[in-house]
Formats: sequence, structure tokens, C-alpha cells
Amino acid sequence: MSRVRQAATFGITLVAGLVFGTVPVAAAGYDSTTEALIRTLNTQLTVIALPITVFVLAVLLYTVLRFRGNDEPKPTGENRNLEISWTVATALILVVVGVLSYQVMADPSVTTTQEMAQDAPEDAVEVTLVGHQWYWEVQYPDENITIQNVDTIYLPVDRPVYITVTSGDVIHSVHVPDLGLKADAIPGQRSFLQTRILNEGEYQLYCAEFCGAGHSKMTAVVKGVPEDEYEQWLEQQQNSTQ
Ligand code: CUA
Repeated sequence: MSRVRQAATFGITLVAGLVFGTVPVAAAGYDSTTEALIRTLNTQLTVIALPITVFVLAVLLYTVLRFRGNDEPKPTGENRNLEISWTVATALILVVVGVLSYQVMADPSVTTTQEMAQDAPEDAVEVTLVGHQWYWEVQYPDENITIQNVDTIYLPVDRPVYITVTSGDVIHSVHVPDLGLKADAIPGQRSFLQTRILNEGEYQLYCAEFCGAGHSKMTAVVKGVPEDEYEQWLEQQQNSTQ
């Protein structure tokens, strides 16, 4: 393969990666705003990485086959154009990957700070999840509801949800993969999550930090329900605790 053709292949691969990588992926079909952001980024990075992987493997395979049994290898001469093009191409790819990742990582619903949690909108639902060896405790501070060893965490759909995460003993981690939520539960510290559940349904919550013998028992279900069902459930809880 001539150097020109090599450079051309590289160029085409780069352009394909850049174009497909920046095509916005439809947010439909996701269960929460955070899941949409994270899975879209994952798809974009895969689309960029795949052609590069295929290209590198193809070059490797070509080289191995083309020069097999070559007893008198000659050193390759300098090719400034090729060197400049692969340096620039790599830099461009990294810039695109960096920009795409930064957009998601810096999104307030992926990286939520204490200030953002304090400035939560009026209609936001605020809950606190506390990890214990070995169960989850959920608090709804506005309603004065606390449930120890919770197995179903009710949350309304189509409303902003702010979750404060902490621990009563060792480090745990809240992980709800289908909603794109993950935050460490650290004793003496608070972490914050923010999302909006888009579809009704049950989403599995796991403890994602090994925390002792009962680690695998630290599961719960996040249940996204319509607003009226959520209000009804809150009322039931308040009545049963009084
Ligand atoms: Cu808690 Cu693992």
C-alpha cells in the first residue's frame, strides 16, 4: 500500500469518526435524563473507537502478511507528511473525545454539587439515601418520612429528583444502572445525584462498593410512578408512621 493510500485511509477513518461521533443520538427510549446522557456518550465513543481499532488491526495484519519471511529488512525513510498527519489526526480525535466527554461529565445532572442541590427547583423531589451495613435507609425530609431497610424507593416520573447520598458506617455506593445513577456513600460526607425519571417502571438499585459480608444483600428497587400514585403513597406512609 502506498503512503498516499495509507494517509488517505487514515483521513477517511478520521473523518468518519468525527462525523459519526458528533451526530446527536436520539434521547428517546431512555428511562432517565442521566441515562440518556451517559449512554449517548458511550455510543459516540464506541463509534469513534471502532474505526480506529479496525484501521490499526488492518495495518498490523497487512504488515505481518506483507513482510513475512523478509530476511533483509530495510529501514523506512522519513515521511514528514505522514508524521504530521497522524499527529494532527490523533490530536483532533482527542479533542473531539474530550469535548464530548466534558459536555456530559460537566452536565449538572451528571456532576451535581451541593450548591446545585441547594438551588433545586420548587417542584423537585428531594430524598436522602443512607447506606448501612447492610441495608438502605431512605429519607423524604420534606414529608418527614424515614424508612429503614427500604426495599422500594418511590419516586415520581417527569419531576426533577435530587438525591443526597451518605453512609452511616463504611463506604457504600448507590448504583442504579438503568437510570444512569451512581454515587459513593461515604461516612461524614454527602454526594449528590440529580435526574428526571422519564418512564414508569422498576429500576434495580445495587450497592456498588464492597462493604462487608452482607454487601450482596444491599439491593433495593427504585419505582418510578405517576404523580398521583406518588402522592397517595406519601400519604399512606405518613398515616402509617403516626
Ligand atoms: Cu454496601 Cu456494598
